[in-house]
Amino acid sequence: MAYNLLKGKRGIIFGALDEKSIAWKTAERVHEEGGTFVLTNAPIALRMGSINKLAEKTNSKVIPADATSIEDLEKLVDEAVKELGGKIDFVLHSIGMSINVRKGKHYTDQNYDWTAKGWDVSAGSFHKTMQVLYKKDAMNAWGSIVALTYMAAQRVFPDYNDMADNKAYLESIARSFGYFFGRDKKVRVNTISQSPTPTTAGQGVKGFDGFIAYAEKMSPLGNATAQECADYTITMFSDLTKKVTLQNLYHDGGFSNMGVSDGVMEAFVQENE
Ligand SMILES: NC(=O)c1ccc[n+]([C@@H]2O[C@H](COP(=O)([O-])OP(=O)(O)OC[C@H]3O[C@@H](n4cnc5c(N)ncnc54)[C@H](O)[C@@H]3O)[C@@H](O)[C@H]2O)c1
Repeated sequence: MAYNLLKGKRGIIFGALDEKSIAWKTAERVHEEGGTFVLTNAPIALRMGSINKLAEKTNSKVIPADATSIEDLEKLVDEAVKELGGKIDFVLHSIGMSINVRKGKHYTDQNYDWTAKGWDVSAGSFHKTMQVLYKKDAMNAWGSIVALTYMAAQRVFPDYNDMADNKAYLESIARSFGYFFGRDKKVRVNTISQSPTPTTAGQGVKGFDGFIAYAEKMSPLGNATAQECADYTITMFSDLTKKVTLQNLYHDGGFSNMGVSDGVMEAFVQENE
């Protein structure tokens, strides 16, 4: 169902790779709600993924940018403002990557060049994106910037590896930059902490199937899907959430406040009988 929540609003959406991507679902929902946007991703992802299909469907332009490159981000923001015909109202940062995870390097045996690269892609890129938007004064007042995160920033999930540290850093950037963006430009900045979701990035984590099944059993409402994350994100882009800022917002079916559930206990008791 569409409510015209984003009519007249312009945005930039990072991180739609394929139909499973949370950014893909969000772009579809923003389009349904009347928002216009440019899509962006790293040049290599544009070659591998199917973003042009989404661009056609949502009538939007694709502008390549490596989110770790200030030069690319500056070009992206300039082109987006020109293409959309005015300043930006919403930004989705939906980017994550760890080479240590990808190459199966254990947390206690990091390759620090990979750690640094993963930090830059997953967390540093959020600061860089906001710094470019801030310096160019490219955001409209009461605009909204959202980045996606995971609860491994607060609690231990061993196989999430250095991505846990990257997410903790990302959430901190949202608060620190959110202060200045709020004070100086009346722009809000938040992170949405999403349930495990079967996407390319999600499924790259070792033991993902166990991970997602456990979270499903633990959460009173069950895991939140990518589609539901898209629904939540558009409310954060809308004028209905104007005074929400500097928050890490859990979108996880209740998982983050659980100790144990009947479902998990049952499985545990059976295993030990
Ligand atoms: N899938 C999950 O279980 C889950 C749970 C919580 C949070 N998240 C977060 O959601 C976000 C989106 O991930 P997803 O699950 O939709 O997976 P995805 O693989 O579809 O998206 C990750 C995106 O990051 C992009 N990216 C990587 N390096 C980049 C770079 N240098 N510049 C620009 N873009 C780059 C990829 O091309 C890809 O589009 C990530 O921040 C992820 O950590 C995912």
